[in-house]
Amino acid sequence: MIQLLENPLRVGLQQERTPEPLILVIFGASGDLTMRKLVPAVYHLKQQRRLPPELTIVGVARRPWSHDFFREQMREGVENFSDGIGAEALWEDFAKGLFYCAADMDDIEGYKKLDALLSELDIQRGTRGNRVFYLAVAPKFFPEAIAKLGEAGMIANPAKTRLVIEKPFGRDLSSCQELNLVVQTACDERQVYRIDHYLGKETVQNLLVLRFANAIFEPLWNRQFVDHVQITVAETVGVEDRAGYYETAGALRDMLQNHLMQLFCLTAMEPPNYMDADSLRNEKVKVIQATHLADIRDLSNSSVRAQYSPGWMKGKPIVGYRSEPNVNPQSIVPTYVAMKFFVDNWRWQGVPFYLRTGKRLPKKVSEIAIQFREVPYMLFQSAAKQVSPNVLTLRIQPNEGIALRFEAKMPGAELRSRSVEMDFGYGKTFGVEGSDAYDRLLLDCMLGDQTLFTRGDEVEAAWKVVTPALAAWEAPSPIDAIPLYEAGTWGPTEAEQLINRDGRQWRRL
Ligand code: BG6
Repeated sequence: MIQLLENPLRVGLQQERTPEPLILVIFGASGDLTMRKLVPAVYHLKQQRRLPPELTIVGVARRPWSHDFFREQMREGVENFSDGIGAEALWEDFAKGLFYCAADMDDIEGYKKLDALLSELDIQRGTRGNRVFYLAVAPKFFPEAIAKLGEAGMIANPAKTRLVIEKPFGRDLSSCQELNLVVQTACDERQVYRIDHYLGKETVQNLLVLRFANAIFEPLWNRQFVDHVQITVAETVGVEDRAGYYETAGALRDMLQNHLMQLFCLTAMEPPNYMDADSLRNEKVKVIQATHLADIRDLSNSSVRAQYSPGWMKGKPIVGYRSEPNVNPQSIVPTYVAMKFFVDNWRWQGVPFYLRTGKRLPKKVSEIAIQFREVPYMLFQSAAKQVSPNVLTLRIQPNEGIALRFEAKMPGAELRSRSVEMDFGYGKTFGVEGSDAYDRLLLDCMLGDQTLFTRGDEVEAAWKVVTPALAAWEAPSPIDAIPLYEAGTWGPTEAEQLINRDGRQWRRL
């Protein structure tokens, strides 16, 4: 039987545990996420011997695939999107645990058919009624699927069943609240794993270790020493082949409300009492509840959205967002968002947090930069012009690591200084690449550890923060209401102005 632990991380981080036998049921089995991320991640866990031999996967989708065809598709996924299948015998063993169920998610009969297959597999594979239902489907299908799982009585037992829900969780505050209600009606919050893959990244978890396993940073981590914080998640890719989803989401829903907000929370929250799911999530909720857009009356002082127009990247012409396949040529969906937050609490009062994310920017880079205050008085007059404030940079990806910038005297008779860096690189120090975020999160979910998953009240609080901007941007507006930035540049001039008017600048990355 799966045990839902009260304080799983106290145990979880210290020991390598193996999940109980279970069936991972993936809704949206014919989609990209399943093939590119989920099944390769589970296979990787198997290669690392982190899974019980009984582990079974059932893919669910509308297409009339056979078990064998599903196995072939998944093999292709593992071959193309991970380190490959390795030993043939291992793949054979894994493939024996892959099954497919063609079902319509709107139809209760589909769930009954699935339930019958799962019961059969419990006997055949020894999975003892333990199930993780993973909703890897478009967000618009979440409410129906959850309600139907509830109606069919398939997630009634909190000790044996869990539900994983992809992001974005809701489209805005009210739809998030409605979805939370659907979830609460169908099951218990202890069964719910709202996934945000940023929390599965090693470097994101390392933020907790940096802050709370070192004595030297925490005393500086406040308004007395920190001038401001910049959180950047920049991507070079455009909308790719996801216009159908992206046109209904945009950068705020796709990235800022979840991934960047999580980075923000872990940077700004108070130390939790324990490293367990509820203690950590309580602190995250607390800090989000104290957070608001820097200026709500004049939103241009606190939030900027923009869309990429044609440009050049690496010497190649790039089409504008409106010319991407399946994008409405009149679309005003943002592919870039920048926001300035304030946190009303004792630690952060008056310290701005600048967040930005965009597609078709010059570089793929995610980082958190804590910029400290300038020295109170410059002793070295000849050096004054060159002195830069200290910056602690957490490189989330790529080149994962942490750097501290400080001033050092340049050699020579003159007293001149230069900024230098102390740098810690993950790869260089540990000699390993960080594991994929989905490996870690899927394993945690199978183990019943909710620490790295977002709680219902947390997502609602995050929506509340961005609601004023969302409401203004969603109001009917002409096509030229949204600023444009050339593909391959660092975003619109409005975003520069957002930070420049405070006498600060975006970091050059
Ligand atoms: C996903 C978004 O959640 O995160 C994508 O839907 C985005 O639009 C992706 O490209 C970025 O993830 P990562 O891990 O590559 O930074």
